[in-house]
Amino acid sequence: MGRGFKQILQESPLYFHLGLKFTGYKLFNKRSPFYGSADIINVCNLHCEHCYWWLNRKEEKDLTLQQWKNIIDEKFKKNHVFMVTLVGGEPLMRKDVIEMFVKEFPKRACVVTNGIYPIPYLKDIYFYWISIDGDKKTHNQIRGDNAWESTRKNVINYVKSNGKNAWKDIWITMTINSKNYKTIETVIDDWKDYSNKIGFQFHTPFMKNDPLWMPFGKERDKVVDRLLELKSNDYKDYIVNPKHQLEIMKRSWGGKGTTPIDCPTWAILSVDHKGREKLPCCIGSAEKDSMKPICEQCGLGCYSVLMGYGIKQ
Ligand SMILES: C[S@@+](CC[C@H](N)C(=O)[O-])C[C@H]1O[C@@H](n2cnc3c(N)ncnc32)[C@H](O)[C@@H]1O
Ligand code: SF4
Ligand code: SF4
Repeated sequence: MGRGFKQILQESPLYFHLGLKFTGYKLFNKRSPFYGSADIINVCNLHCEHCYWWLNRKEEKDLTLQQWKNIIDEKFKKNHVFMVTLVGGEPLMRKDVIEMFVKEFPKRACVVTNGIYPIPYLKDIYFYWISIDGDKKTHNQIRGDNAWESTRKNVINYVKSNGKNAWKDIWITMTINSKNYKTIETVIDDWKDYSNKIGFQFHTPFMKNDPLWMPFGKERDKVVDRLLELKSNDYKDYIVNPKHQLEIMKRSWGGKGTTPIDCPTWAILSVDHKGREKLPCCIGSAEKDSMKPICEQCGLGCYSVLMGYGIKQ
């Protein structure tokens, strides 16, 4: 994982652009995306209970490798984005596209996956986010029978077959909801020996009264306070969320109704499976008549972390 001196030298123009972007924003309120996100595939092998992606999914063909190369050049490289996250659908079903992104963004492309398929070793990948939604029982209730067991097997195989540092490539992501919030510590216990970091975010609803959403208030505060406590003690380096971000996730922070107000949506350039820009953010859609996330109940990690650093709309 880490960045060697040679790589830092090679990347220095990028650090320069990142610095310029940050300074441009802070001094002149100039907005240019820091990060990119791409739904590289319009297919998924699961149908998880909590998933936003299925809500707006239409039966459409995926892009070719050459079309993705054009998106890389015309959108992500042209805008000097520093890092790209590959999602879907299930990105491990498009290994060809993953390999190309990793080649074009060495150590700067990460992949979010359900880990149901074997996880390929790619020397220059930044890391894999492996989605885990609770202890074995809860994860399988949300993701389907035996999902936990398959992901477990593939993560352990990856870590055991790819050298002594392979565990560093595995980061766990847990989306906390009303079903799984009591299993957070089991998730940490289950995965800490096979992973480098864990990141937490909260379920973001698209409908009022979504039973998976954890309402603001005592119970949610307790979850966040426990995460803060774990981070302050045994898991300082393992839990990746900064403390101020966790505090933000206790309350409504992003917008009103379905409209982002404070949320820095501009900071992440998100494209769908056709390379079209998604609005209002990476869980939205390029289509006007699509279902929209409820910003005032948002729990997404990638935007709230930026808010925590003082980056806003
Ligand atoms: C849509 S999935 C795509 C990548 C891959 N299929 C996976 O499951 O990791 C990306 C991430 O979004 C999370 N996610 C899905 N629905 C969500 C929602 N309504 N709110 C917040 N996160 C959600 C998933 O748990 C997963 O970690
Ligand atoms: S595996 Fe990922 S994309 Fe597929 S349904 Fe589950 S959360 Fe959604
Ligand atoms: S990240 Fe959250 S607050 Fe921001 S636009 Fe998306 S749903 Fe709204």
